[in-house]
Amino acid sequence: MLKKSKLLAGAMLAAFSLAIPAHAADVKEVQMLHWWTSGGEAAALATLKDYLAKEGYTWKDVPIAGGGGSAAMTTLKAMVAAGNPPTASQILGYYALDYAKAGKLNNLNELATKEHWADVIPKALQKFAVTDGNWDAVPVNIHSVNWLWINKAVMDKIGATEPKNFDEFIAMLDKAKKAGVIPLALGGQPWQEATMFDSVVMSTGGPDFYKKAFVDLDPAALKSDTMKKAFDNLAKLRDYVDPNYAGRDWNLATAMVIKGDALVQVMGDWAKGEFSVAKKTAGTDFMCYRFPGTDGSVIYNADMFAMFQVPADRRGAQLALADATMSPAVQSAFNVIKGSVPARMDVPDTAFDLCGKKGIADVKKADAAGTFVGSMAQNYAQPPAVATAYTDVVTKFFHGQIKTSDAAVTELVKAIDAAK
Ligand code: GAL
Repeated sequence: MLKKSKLLAGAMLAAFSLAIPAHAADVKEVQMLHWWTSGGEAAALATLKDYLAKEGYTWKDVPIAGGGGSAAMTTLKAMVAAGNPPTASQILGYYALDYAKAGKLNNLNELATKEHWADVIPKALQKFAVTDGNWDAVPVNIHSVNWLWINKAVMDKIGATEPKNFDEFIAMLDKAKKAGVIPLALGGQPWQEATMFDSVVMSTGGPDFYKKAFVDLDPAALKSDTMKKAFDNLAKLRDYVDPNYAGRDWNLATAMVIKGDALVQVMGDWAKGEFSVAKKTAGTDFMCYRFPGTDGSVIYNADMFAMFQVPADRRGAQLALADATMSPAVQSAFNVIKGSVPARMDVPDTAFDLCGKKGIADVKKADAAGTFVGSMAQNYAQPPAVATAYTDVVTKFFHGQIKTSDAAVTELVKAIDAAK
């Protein structure tokens, strides 16, 4: 009798499980939208995929090529509008706040509290990952844009040393020109020119000026002589690019430096990821210096994963992604390859090369000194509309459509006013 009822219970259980629709079980897949399509970027992302694979999650990649992410943001907008958001998307600064305020993101507070995220992530970043007290995005790194990436053999050949200010930088570029090497490897795309201009403005005016102009949008600063001087300095850099610079992808510009076809690239530290996958060593094959005149300041952008509202059966995978991203192991492994600094301040610098160690120390120092400031070009100083207006003016000036620095500052004030 007992045997019979056990059998019956078993049969009922089997029938019951069969009756559960497939979607009631957790979908063990992470769908992620990102623009990490270069060699270094893909290698860094692989560390996160591998970590999740070990936890039983598959990865559905949604790569949208285009440095700086504007193409990716267009695709994301369409997916969200269609009610089909990814589990998570790579995102920068004010874009995350926009989705959070529109009620499109999921709340991660339980995990954040359990893992004490608030104690280890810099406050400056929490401003973009937390909205109305709710964690809804997870920072994987801290990049900074005010760097020079230099081919060491070329630098030695032309007899140059680290430039400490803008004039010394120009002198170094002149030496390369005389030696018949392309001085400045530039990808002439709007976002790259604007990213470089962030550094030029910091170098020309210093951190207080940068903050007044780009964080406070103080009209007096935006149209000041200092800003004019920054445009003059940007114009000087035009003399050192090769004729084919327009439209070039950032990683192809990095490759020019890696190969020794060019001396230097001004780029965020994602460039270091390309040196790493090319098996080049910091200090021997290449040098990383702060953009001349910006030592002590860090113009940051941080890659975050915005966690979208997904169906309940995908929530587990989303939390697994958030947990993996914040794990000290991933934060170290990912950023060693990516060229960035861990978003968690408690991750040791042991596994990092000399550029990585410098990056980590610089972030801590700048954060303490009040010189850790958001990149205007990378959507960490202003919302996308203002950042786009800025990028437009910078690129028009660089390509000669706006002819003088006087006109550039007038256009800048006008464009920013219209975008605010
Ligand atoms: C930035 C992003 C970096 C890097 C770069 C080039 O916007 O924050 O992670 O990938 O674009 O694609």
